[in-house]
Amino acid sequence: MEAIEKEEFRVPRRLRGMQKSNIRQIFDAALPGSINFGLGQPDLSTPRCIREEAVRVIQKEENGYTSHAGLPELRQHIVDDYPHLGLTADDCIVTVGSNEALYCATMALCEEGDEVLVPNPAFPAYPAINRLAGAETVLYRLPKEKEFGFDAEEFEKQITDKTRVAIILSPSNPTGRSLSRDDLKEIAGILEGTGIYAISDEIYKELYFTDERPASISEYYDKTLVVGGLSKNMSMTGWRMGWLLGVPEAIKRALVVHGYNTVCTSTITQKASLAYWTDAGKHAEDHCREIWRRRKDLLMELIESELRLPAFEPEGAFYTMMDVSSLGDEMDLVNKFLENKVITVNGSGFGDEAKGFLRISYCASEENIEEGIARMKKAINDR
Ligand SMILES: Cc1ncc(COP(=O)(O)O)c(C=O)c1O
Repeated sequence: MEAIEKEEFRVPRRLRGMQKSNIRQIFDAALPGSINFGLGQPDLSTPRCIREEAVRVIQKEENGYTSHAGLPELRQHIVDDYPHLGLTADDCIVTVGSNEALYCATMALCEEGDEVLVPNPAFPAYPAINRLAGAETVLYRLPKEKEFGFDAEEFEKQITDKTRVAIILSPSNPTGRSLSRDDLKEIAGILEGTGIYAISDEIYKELYFTDERPASISEYYDKTLVVGGLSKNMSMTGWRMGWLLGVPEAIKRALVVHGYNTVCTSTITQKASLAYWTDAGKHAEDHCREIWRRRKDLLMELIESELRLPAFEPEGAFYTMMDVSSLGDEMDLVNKFLENKVITVNGSGFGDEAKGFLRISYCASEENIEEGIARMKKAINDR
C-alpha cells in the first residue's frame, strides 16, 4: 500500500514565528522547589470578601451568561473610578482579564498597515496582539540611562502618518516605574491633533509606593481607552476579571470583538468582584499594598547589601530591574540561577533596551525573598 503522505500543518501567516512568551519558557524549565522571582503572579490569597461572595453566588444564585458587556452595576462602579471622563456604564466592557481588554482594544482600532507605538521595554503581549490585529509594532525607547523613564524625544520621533495607537503603560511591567503627571501632559501634548489613540494599560494602577496614586493619561488626553482589572491588586489572576473603557465609538466596536470571542467573562467572577467596591474590598487592597511595600523594601535592601548590584527603586507594580551587565551574559546568569532554584527573567525578553538587566519580581514571601537572594549570591560566587 502506498504510504499516505503526512500533510504538513499549515501555520497561518499571522501566527508564524510566534511562540509562548520567554517568561513562560523560563518558568517551565524551573526545578521543583524553585523560588519564583519570575512570574508576575501575586502569591497572596484572594481576599476573603471576594471568595465568600463567590461561594454564596454559586450556592444561592443562577449563573447563566450576563450581557456581553457584563453586569451593569459592575460597569457602573468601574466608570465611576474615572469621573473626569463622564462615561456611562455603556462605555465599559468587562473582559476576561485585562489581557483580553488589550486584545479587544487593538482589534477595534487597528487594521493592516497601521502602526502601534509600544514602550521598549514592556510587557511582551503588546507586539503579539498587534500582530494578530495585522498592525506593526514600532518601539519607543524608555532609555536605561534615564532608569527606563519616559523620554519625549524618543516617543515623538517614532510617530509616522501610519501611527494609529500608542500604548501607555504605568506603572510598568517590567520596570516598576510610573509616569509622572508631567510625563503624561507631555505625551498628551505630542498626541493632541494627531488622531492617534492611546491605550492606557493601568493593570498596576493600585499597586503604587509613591505618595499619590499614579495618574492616567485619560486625565489629559481624551482619545484614550483604559485597560484595567483586578488580577494584580486583588490577587485574582485566575479569576479573569478585567475591563476596557473610554471613547464610546471604539468601545462599541471592541464589544463586537469581545462578544464573538468570549460571550462574557465568568458570571461568578463578575458577581464576586462587586465586593471589591465595598469597605472590606478596599481594606483588603490597602492591606495587600502594604505587604508589597514591605517586600519591595526588603528586596531592595538585600540586593544592595548581599548582591551589591544596582537596581532601580520601584514606584509601582511588583518588579525591579537589576543591572547584571557586570556579570557577563544575562541569559547565562538566568540559567545559572535556574540551576540554583531561583527563577528570574532576562531583561531582553521585554525589549533590547533592557539587555543586561534581570527583572526580579517580588511575588514571594519575605522568607522566600531572603532565601532567593541567598541562592543568587551563592550562584554568583560559584561562577
Ligand atoms: C502590563 C500588563 N498588562 C496586562 C497583563 C494581563 O493581566 P490580566 O489579563 O491577568 O489582567 C499583565 C500580566 O502580567 C501585565 O503585566
